[in-house]
Amino acid sequence: MMVFAFKPNGKPPMGWTDKLLTGIHEIDQQHQVLFDVVARLEQAVTAEEKWSAVHFALVELSSFVSIHFTVEEALMRLHGYPDLDSHIAAHSVFAADLAEIKQHSIRQDVSTEMTTMLKNWLVSHIGVVDKAYVPHLLAAAIVNTPRS
Ligand SMILES: [Fe+2]
Ligand SMILES: [Fe+2]
Repeated sequence: MMVFAFKPNGKPPMGWTDKLLTGIHEIDQQHQVLFDVVARLEQAVTAEEKWSAVHFALVELSSFVSIHFTVEEALMRLHGYPDLDSHIAAHSVFAADLAEIKQHSIRQDVSTEMTTMLKNWLVSHIGVVDKAYVPHLLAAAIVNTPRS
């Protein structure tokens, strides 16, 4: 299990676009890992793999999401990001939805609508809400810019 290895698996994850890059290396790697895990989940659902494969992908996604949210929230808090509270609230809503789908996967099939909802949330959250903290964090000069 690679829950704590925040390394994307080499090739760009399915559905990833460089428009989602924040320019903060650590965050970008974490976002790409989230996409990798969502791709595994989508594959398990569309291939109608065993419920346990789908459930495991959701457990893995929850673990990554929880670590990633903690890192982001810590960075924002540390550097006095003014929209911290609303960002945390957005994370909480998603984490609750994800927890519900994870529980659902024990009793019933997970639908492609559910995985699409998770993916769409990630795309729009990264593209809009995460991107909003970038100027503040970069100005605080506390994070590494991408390695060349
Ligand atoms: Fe993020
Ligand atoms: Fe976020």
